Amino acid sequence: MIWNFLILYKLKTMKVLVATDKPFAKIAVDGIRKEIEAAGYELVLLEKYGEKANLLEAVKDANAIIIRSDIIDAEVLDAAKELKIVVRAGAGYDNVDLAAATAHNVCVMNTPGQNSNAVAELALGMMVMAVRNMYNGTSGSELMGKKLGIHAYGNVGRNVARIAKGFGMQIYAYDAFCPKEVIEADGAIAVDSAEALYETCNVVSLHIPATAETKNSINYDLVNKMPKGGLLVNTARKEVINETELIKLMEDRPDLKYVTDVMPAAHAEFAEKFAGRYFTTPKKMGAQTAEANINAGIAAAKQIVGFLKDGCEKFRVNK
Ligand code: 3PG
Repeated sequence: MIWNFLILYKLKTMKVLVATDKPFAKIAVDGIRKEIEAAGYELVLLEKYGEKANLLEAVKDANAIIIRSDIIDAEVLDAAKELKIVVRAGAGYDNVDLAAATAHNVCVMNTPGQNSNAVAELALGMMVMAVRNMYNGTSGSELMGKKLGIHAYGNVGRNVARIAKGFGMQIYAYDAFCPKEVIEADGAIAVDSAEALYETCNVVSLHIPATAETKNSINYDLVNKMPKGGLLVNTARKEVINETELIKLMEDRPDLKYVTDVMPAAHAEFAEKFAGRYFTTPKKMGAQTAEANINAGIAAAKQIVGFLKDGCEKFRVNK
């Protein structure tokens, strides 16, 4: 009798895999575990797995997966025979093959807004660092009174606007999909095109997702519109930058600076050519705070429980 019960229990226990090559803070993992175990599921942790083969092995019996920027492609989905849902604990889901997930009948969600303050704080921090000449001891400048262009006014863009107001910056924003009234309600000036944003602003902060339309869209002509001494801040994705053209532009315009939280493919060339005008974090750090990990990780766990128990598909991003 007891054996029957145990076999049944084992059969019914759902496995939730947290697969994070860049791990969450421990406090966030503890919170995720609490949510998952309270629902009667088992939590399996795969951190800093390095090789894809380790991920392929771990997903085999997972019913649900929580990821960050970890790549979930067709090969991973093929290996994950029991998988029902993947939640990207974060905003951007360009690391998940949505069409393949749909073909495998796997629901994909993100956790919008949960880590946006962390990313916005880093964007402002990088601005301060750049205008203070990377803290090299020389006289720099201030953000107060400067024109800040927010390129895409989503959750991160809004937080950047809120914090930049405290610095006394003049805030402009361009977003093809966000109504002007939303931007203006925050006291920012909505402009009609990306070109107008770059022409106007001393600092441009990128918050566009990496999509077929945006990849390579930050190019020579666009950034060249910036006034003398322009600063480009990228806490979005490296793919949106046309690196070859940005390198050419920074060679032609020694007044421009580029700071990024996503290391360029051509990092060595940027670092060699633009010392003092270029900075990259070693690893994407925007959402790497205990608070953001807790917010996004626990939201992901709750969304998984809601989906598996009640079929709730809020925040689903694939059809
Ligand atoms: C996001 O899209 O949420 C951010 O880029 C954070 O990514 P990360 O979870 O890999 O830090």
